[in-house]
Amino acid sequence: MLRPNAPLGSMLAGLIAAERPKPQWAKLAHCCRGVPELADSAMRIALFEPDLPPNVGTLVRFGACLGLAVDIIRPCGFPLGREALRRSAMDYFDLADIHIHADWAAFQRDVPGRRVLLTTKASQPFHAARYEAEDVLLLGRESAGVPDFVHDAAALRVCIPMRAGLRSLNVALAAAMVAGEALKQTGLYPR
Ligand SMILES: C[S@@+](CC[C@H](N)C(=O)[O-])C[C@H]1O[C@@H](n2cnc3c(N)ncnc32)[C@H](O)[C@@H]1O
Repeated sequence: MLRPNAPLGSMLAGLIAAERPKPQWAKLAHCCRGVPELADSAMRIALFEPDLPPNVGTLVRFGACLGLAVDIIRPCGFPLGREALRRSAMDYFDLADIHIHADWAAFQRDVPGRRVLLTTKASQPFHAARYEAEDVLLLGRESAGVPDFVHDAAALRVCIPMRAGLRSLNVALAAAMVAGEALKQTGLYPR
């Protein structure tokens, strides 16, 4: 999306993105603002109906720094707006490739790539899995993980092994661990 007062980097990124066929993102969505190389980002992090703005902000910052697009699947447990996102992601908001989807069906329709679900219910440890450059690393809600239909839609389900009896990791930490392994395997760390 081009804005009249956008910096040059952002305008170039917009032009690059405009060349490619693009799904209809929700109103808030924007593409590759300020960072032209993100126009080529393949691997993505997707947040299923996130509850907590600080986690979303942490993951937007993570995506900006590591070159991962961030998909946010509504509804969220808080009023998701540009200002809420900017507050939690700070200036990284302008440096990230964020896409907002109205719901799970819209996300499924608009975003290609294999769904890799991070879940405590998987038996396969994340470090034993094989990742692909276009994988979508899908994370559940802080309060409830994902419903069965999302679990069933994933092509690969991985867990981060934990000590017995403990519930789960923070969603952003879980994303960082698995994305770290996936980026290493696919050679997609920024250079
Ligand atoms: C706070 S956890 C959700 C806990 C939720 N009560 C449940 O039962 O799934 C939020 C998300 O972080 C990810 N996560 C946290 N710990 C994980 C682990 N050990 N293995 C895989 N994913 C994990 C999952 O995507 C999970 O849905």
